[in-house]
Amino acid sequence: MESMGTLRRTRYCGEVRLADAGQEMTVCGSVARSRDKGGIIFADLRDTTGLLQMVFDEDTPKDVFAKAESLKSEYIVVARGVLRERAAKTDKIATGDVELYVRELRVLSAAETPPFEIRDDVKAGEDLRLRYRYLDLRRPAAHEMIVQRSRVCQIVRSYMAAHHFTEIETPCLIKSTPEGARDYLVPSRVQPGHFYALPQSPQLYKQLLMLSGFDRYYQIARCFRDEDLRADRQPEFTQIDLEMSFVDENDIMTYNEGLIAEVWQQMLGITLKTPFPRMPWHEAMGRYGSDKPDTRFGMELQNVSGIFKTSEFKPFAAALAGGGAVVALNARGLAEVLSRKKIDKLTEVAKTYGAKGLAYTRLTAEGESSSFEKFLTADEQAAFRNALGAGTGDVLLVVSDTDWERACTALGQVRLAIGREQGMTDPKQFNFLWVTDFPLFEYSETEGRYLAKHHPFTQPNAADLDKVETDPGACRAVAYDIVLNGVEMGGGSMRINDPALQDRMFKALGFTEEKARQNFGFLMDAYRYGAPPHGGMAYGLERMMMLLLGTDNMRDVIAFPKVQSASELMTGAPDTVDLGQLEELSIALDLKQK
Ligand code: AMO
Repeated sequence: MESMGTLRRTRYCGEVRLADAGQEMTVCGSVARSRDKGGIIFADLRDTTGLLQMVFDEDTPKDVFAKAESLKSEYIVVARGVLRERAAKTDKIATGDVELYVRELRVLSAAETPPFEIRDDVKAGEDLRLRYRYLDLRRPAAHEMIVQRSRVCQIVRSYMAAHHFTEIETPCLIKSTPEGARDYLVPSRVQPGHFYALPQSPQLYKQLLMLSGFDRYYQIARCFRDEDLRADRQPEFTQIDLEMSFVDENDIMTYNEGLIAEVWQQMLGITLKTPFPRMPWHEAMGRYGSDKPDTRFGMELQNVSGIFKTSEFKPFAAALAGGGAVVALNARGLAEVLSRKKIDKLTEVAKTYGAKGLAYTRLTAEGESSSFEKFLTADEQAAFRNALGAGTGDVLLVVSDTDWERACTALGQVRLAIGREQGMTDPKQFNFLWVTDFPLFEYSETEGRYLAKHHPFTQPNAADLDKVETDPGACRAVAYDIVLNGVEMGGGSMRINDPALQDRMFKALGFTEEKARQNFGFLMDAYRYGAPPHGGMAYGLERMMMLLLGTDNMRDVIAFPKVQSASELMTGAPDTVDLGQLEELSIALDLKQK
């Protein structure tokens, strides 16, 4: 192998253009592929910015040509040469108008044949690629996503700096607090039997920073949640996290619209229209069956309970008697595409989300078929069809349930399944939406108590303050989510800054005074020394990147992601550790119980 000697990069491969033709330059990187055409050799050089074709021909110094003959994929080289206009131009790469006639070449590192071919139209499976993620990240498309992620962070930092935010790091070894997802725990060596938790978010610290007088805080913060993985979740992820003092929720939403507009402008050249629309949670659930509605298409849900108040059709009657609802939608003009078989599939979707079934009416030109209308009175049938504006060619879908939210959710998922399958979700359209007025609490059947829907420090809506004890289920929170095309990209809330109200919240959540003090004593004390009104929010950076880059795989936007089993395939984490390490931590394993 050779050393670089005095050769130093003067240009990045992907950045040279036709206007640079005639210039001498030095580039370095790895060989993407090399083609020996006998007497002339072409080799693509790849660096972090892109590809540049190198050429070696009869004018190339003999020793350089000999070296070029030995080049193989992934060899690391530095090359000096003159840029020329390319004879056979290509628009496949950004530098397709030019090529480098190499005068000097140094091979800095040889490479074995990689376990898969490093190219964008890669055939290898994802697990193999993740085992060799450092190779996978050489693929220009994979590489570019990570570069773009860095760009977004830069834009965020500039915006924050321009608006008086201070970037502050909060600890990663913290106290485990109940509520929220499961914590990752870290044992303490010096205090046997004691554990740190990794932060699920910097929530408590950022509130305390407002109490410290920092006024506005942000952090691109690493968060850890021991949850079951889903397509839109990683156990370890990053938030763009912020908190502001002396503001209300409208100010926070406005600032954040500015931030998002800046990111979309710089990243995609798209000028977003602000302010973004807002929709209370109850309306979002009722119209879209989701707290993160995809508003790129209509096909909205309708509550048709009123029509069936006295209905003798058992499922509807039972749902309404149980305090629930009958909700319906009209898949307008889809009678031909939504065959019985397709409706069966949609029924499975509804069932996955807790519905007992999916009633339907298909109004094809050849005739009508319905799973339930024969059980209705003529008046009910007419009112139902009328409410949905039903006509020939339509499919009417209905879910009834003793729980309004469950009925809406199940039909909302059916709506989404139809929308996606029928191409109603234009990937080029960006429909931002603030969902506001979330419920403050949600009842947990398993725990037999109310839990905080957002977190226990969220400000109740002023109009609902008297219901915190008497009717928790009806209390709304000053909380908001930012939703884009059906994805919850971020969320936040105004926080409680009145210690007396915080005490009431803990009580409503079933905390004894002792337990509240044990868990949150430091916070309760802090709020006794003067606390400005404050609130904030956090974005999932990975979710934002997925939406910006148009990928539905969260792993694409993470340099070293984890897979379904929460493993990181390249290093093999998690792994067993030496018994000695465990002894030091006073930990004994008892794996039999699992
Ligand atoms: P929340 O829990 O809603 O709020 O999280 C904020 C955003 O983080 C993203 N997110 C995730 N991304 C990837 N993998 C995960 N496992 C994951 N979990 C959440 C989502 C979500 O909208 N402290 C509050 C914010 C606040 O009130 O200021 C919080 O963490 O995009």
